[in-house]
Amino acid sequence: MIDRNTVAFVSGANRGLGAQFVARLLARGAGKVYAASRTGRVDIADERVIPVTLDITDDDSAAHAARLASDTTLLINNAGVNHQSAFLAPHAQDHARAEMDVNYFGTLRMARAFAPALIRTQGAMLNVLSILARVSLPAMGSLCASKAAALRLTEALCAEFAPHGVRVFAALPGAIDTDMSRDFAGPKLDAAATADATLDALAGDSHEIYIGAMAQQLAQGLSLQRAETQAQLLFSSGDA
Ligand SMILES: NC(=O)c1ccc[n+]([C@@H]2O[C@H](COP(=O)([O-])OP(=O)(O)OC[C@H]3O[C@@H](n4cnc5c(N)ncnc54)[C@H](OP(=O)(O)O)[C@@H]3O)[C@@H](O)[C@H]2O)c1
Repeated sequence: MIDRNTVAFVSGANRGLGAQFVARLLARGAGKVYAASRTGRVDIADERVIPVTLDITDDDSAAHAARLASDTTLLINNAGVNHQSAFLAPHAQDHARAEMDVNYFGTLRMARAFAPALIRTQGAMLNVLSILARVSLPAMGSLCASKAAALRLTEALCAEFAPHGVRVFAALPGAIDTDMSRDFAGPKLDAAATADATLDALAGDSHEIYIGAMAQQLAQGLSLQRAETQAQLLFSSGDA
């Protein structure tokens, strides 16, 4: 799937999982990687890397990036935020709105901006969601809602892009060892291994990619015993 003909575009490429996507794409021989960040600066020295300034909440910024990267064959919508906010916590509405703005509307904005390029190149789009798109975790309810909205978005995009020969994937990992999960004490996935496993899955048949044992077990539980699996999370200490 990844070779020297691959022209990838990665949002949120300056740190965390996004930086690992860039590194693993280069290691797999991608011909060009647009590495997008809000500052336009990324810490990767490789002549195949093209830094791009991008704020996915801004129409002009997304349109500018799409014009610059019009040869993109693989769009990785990785940028995301998690305000770790329960719905009854202080500032919950501000947090919910900010998460929707980035995780849902930002992904939608990028999909629309890059649609002409992906259709022209018969490319692929990978939306980095979370296993929390499938369940509600009360300690971060609004994050779950924003990722669930992005999952519905991804499903619809999959259908809309299919006649144009563009494949669309949702990645649903468990907790990953990045800044975003710095306060989570439970087991976390290695970010480089998560990027690798996700890129591997692009060659498969499934449009929903579950990364890590926790995500895979939850997905299985939801398909076999949805109510019981959700109830376990709702009434657990919120430590998943
Ligand atoms: N970490 C986890 O446990 C976990 C689990 C499941 C899914 N995920 C998902 O994985 C993806 C990557 O997260 P991460 O763990 O690498 O988190 P992270 O270390 O906090 O990085 C988030 C990235 O998103 C960028 N970003 C945020 N808002 C943006 C905006 N408006 N425009 C452009 N870029 C923006 C950040 O840029 P700045 O540096 O400028 O803030 C940063 O590069 C996210 O979609 C996240 O929801 C993470």
